[in-house]
Amino acid sequence: MTKQPWWQTTVIYQIYPRSFQDSTGNGVGDLPGITSRLDYLADTLGVGAVWISPFYPSPMADFGYDVADYTDIHPMFGTIADFDELLEEAHRLGLKLIIDWVPNHSSDEHPWFVESRSSRDNPKRDWYVWRDARPDGSLPNNWLSNFGGPAWEYDEKTDQYYLHSFLAKQPDLNWRNPEVQEAMFDGIRFWLDRGVDGFRIDVAHVMMKDPEMRDNPPIPDDWQRQFKEHGEYDKFLHIHDKGHPDVHQVFRDFRALLDSYQPERYSVGEIHIADWDEWATYYGEDLDELHMPYNFSLIHAPWDAAEIATRVNEMEAVLPEGAWPNNVLGNHDEKRLISRYGPDAARVAAMMLLTLRGTPTIYYGDELGITETYIPPELQQDPWGRNLPGAGRDGCRTPMQWDKSPHAGFSPPVAATTWLPLTEDWQSQNVEVQLNESGSLLSLYRALLEYRAGSAQLTVGDYRQLDSPSGVYMYERSHSGSRVVVALNFTGEPKSFAMPADGRIRLSTTGARAGEALSGSVVLGPNEGVIVEIV
Ligand code: NOJ
Repeated sequence: MTKQPWWQTTVIYQIYPRSFQDSTGNGVGDLPGITSRLDYLADTLGVGAVWISPFYPSPMADFGYDVADYTDIHPMFGTIADFDELLEEAHRLGLKLIIDWVPNHSSDEHPWFVESRSSRDNPKRDWYVWRDARPDGSLPNNWLSNFGGPAWEYDEKTDQYYLHSFLAKQPDLNWRNPEVQEAMFDGIRFWLDRGVDGFRIDVAHVMMKDPEMRDNPPIPDDWQRQFKEHGEYDKFLHIHDKGHPDVHQVFRDFRALLDSYQPERYSVGEIHIADWDEWATYYGEDLDELHMPYNFSLIHAPWDAAEIATRVNEMEAVLPEGAWPNNVLGNHDEKRLISRYGPDAARVAAMMLLTLRGTPTIYYGDELGITETYIPPELQQDPWGRNLPGAGRDGCRTPMQWDKSPHAGFSPPVAATTWLPLTEDWQSQNVEVQLNESGSLLSLYRALLEYRAGSAQLTVGDYRQLDSPSGVYMYERSHSGSRVVVALNFTGEPKSFAMPADGRIRLSTTGARAGEALSGSVVLGPNEGVIVEIV
């Protein structure tokens, strides 16, 4: 197979560390827990890289996306020694380890912010974004927090406001101050020196704002939502409070830092941008910024063959020469995949995710079909949901379901409870049960991952959409003259289509048709997807 960078041929698996494996019995997952499950990822499932959401010291106002120390581990998750062991074991099993980096904001309990807020002339005052009220006494500008309410918090002691694009407990760092960049890059070096393979960068497009801090304009009448409902926040066009082009220099510097390490390190940015051209700028003009901006277009698409195909083609069309695509269908901020599409379509979605061109990211538990879980108000944990009813993300963060033992094997039996409840069907939907069922979703994921790993067409091959009847998305992946065709029926009706050439089914989402020869007109069952090798 062609030698391509590891991050192009791998499959990434995202772990929300609170929810993967609890080793202590306190009901919350931790790093030793993850280490104990790495063989599941490397051998049973067969992914190549793991991204772990934040595990840093934190008051947990936003479950770790409020970092109080960028170079340590929250005691609840373990110690640096536990981290080193996790990394060593991952590498021993051939897994790459990607960690979360949260540069836009720290916790208000980070010592930098504690200093910054201590007085107006503290040397770290300018490490955060402080502003006076407007002359009429109103807030410095009209910017709003993503999590509800104004993006400004008044600090009585120093009589100024500080900026927080998320919670008030998450003050924005001032990336226009070179000392901030230096200190944050020191934190990156700390992890690079330990051997981490890459970083997922939290809200990478939010780090740089309009230097004049102008008001955001209201949305125009023809505005259409691209991302999920944000309440009051949706009433403005967010053109000044994020996305300033000065961020590109930060990412060029960041990339130069990564590139000074061997073996090759990797970066993927969390970038929520609806404009494709702007999204593509995050690769850098000379591919010298992020290895990838995350592509969230499919997560937000309705389950519709034409709509999905359009988004894939749009993304392919804007990729700069040599840039590598990626696809995501679930993460810790979005409703669970199976609950968005339904159980039958979830199988087709798995096939699509693992056969489109580019690096896929699987969200933990999606391979089992863990559903979005209703969390009663008194058990809700997510601050966003508490600020804006309905926006809570707890439902997609419930504990991993390993087996039929108490707490689904997530917590040891001694645990009184788990930090979020399990899904109702955990006794029938868990790793142990699904491993023994050839028709399970987990078995399908394993088969797809195994097939993909051995297929140059799927890992590095070209992509071309093929003509297909409405409701069917069909594409070809080709490499060195050999081709596979992927045909996905997005509907509950059988669909017939013409095979572009004779072929043989290698994998079907229904599991029933492997080996079947196809030629001429063929029929796809309802919600069926097939991978066909052209002979
Ligand atoms: C994006 C993260 O994915 C989300 O979980 C977090 O709440 C916000 N950034 C703020 O850090």
